[in-house]
Amino acid sequence: MDRHILVVGSLNMDHVVTADHLPVQGETIIEGQYHIYPGGKGANQAVAAVRMGGKVKMLGRVGNDAYGRQLITGLSSAGVNTRYIGTDETLATGVAVITVDQKGQNTIVVASGANMALKETDITDEPDLFNGVGVMVAQLEIPVPNVKAAFRVAKEREAITVLNPAPARSLSKELFPLVDYITPNRLELQMLTGANDTQAGISRLLALGVGTVIVTLGEKGALLANRQKQSHIPAFTVDAVDTVAAGDAFTGAFCVGLAEGLSPDIAIRLANAAAAISVTRNGAQPSMPSRDEVEEFLAQNS
Ligand code: ATP
Ligand code: RIB
Repeated sequence: MDRHILVVGSLNMDHVVTADHLPVQGETIIEGQYHIYPGGKGANQAVAAVRMGGKVKMLGRVGNDAYGRQLITGLSSAGVNTRYIGTDETLATGVAVITVDQKGQNTIVVASGANMALKETDITDEPDLFNGVGVMVAQLEIPVPNVKAAFRVAKEREAITVLNPAPARSLSKELFPLVDYITPNRLELQMLTGANDTQAGISRLLALGVGTVIVTLGEKGALLANRQKQSHIPAFTVDAVDTVAAGDAFTGAFCVGLAEGLSPDIAIRLANAAAAISVTRNGAQPSMPSRDEVEEFLAQNS
């Protein structure tokens, strides 16, 4: 199988404040610690995948500013092909404001900026973009119609398609039959389908034409369901300090498993291991483990 992974998605600079608890409305906390980390769901998944040994290219858009340049340089030094990351002359690079508490839980507000200026023609008019692509993955921090365009072209080019529907947004019904794998967390599943119950949500997505649903369950691991079977792949027990981008670590590593031709169950085990390591570290992209770290972790935790 062709091993290249194409990530179509966002790049943000994350401004993170850690505190002992998340503030309630109207509350001010003064003991926060401040850090800046490279982030954005698309860029995080690209880094997760390249650290796991995937050959990765990314399509996205930043502003003509210092953050944009830093994000591209970071991706490129990690080994991601950044040729398809464009620069917008009017909008600023995306920024995320994140709070993290002592248990590793978080809140995130994103100012999307240039991410929302990604155009359909960036996908459809790039003759080489899909060359050599075995797996394409997208999230929902870019314009939704363009996500659909990416899935349409990916299917025409016979790539395996993965949708990480984060953050949850309303999607047109024509997108679902183009999705081979969808990776919502429980809240995203609920918001996407309107179903309070996980099984009902899974059934709705399968009825809409998705190939396989993988629901991530935090410290409980992940559920895989398609028309043939359902299985639960447990998480690994770790001390979580920061769960920001756990879903990105999971999705990026899962794509590498698919690109290597692993079965979805085995790819999820790899993804659970990568994500478990990531939650023991701070920051989005700095938390992504290497393949060697994941293999060693798996050997120690089997
Ligand atoms: P986030 O939004 O924080 O990036 P998410 O809500 O999209 O994450 P989760 O379901 O919370 O996704 O986590 C994704 C995966 O990360 C899980 O399926 C699991 O493999 C791993 N994971 C998350 N939290 C933990 C934890 N506390 N311990 C071990 N593994 C975890
Ligand atoms: O999934 C985590 C990411 O969500 C952060 O890096 C932040 O940029 C937001 O996009």
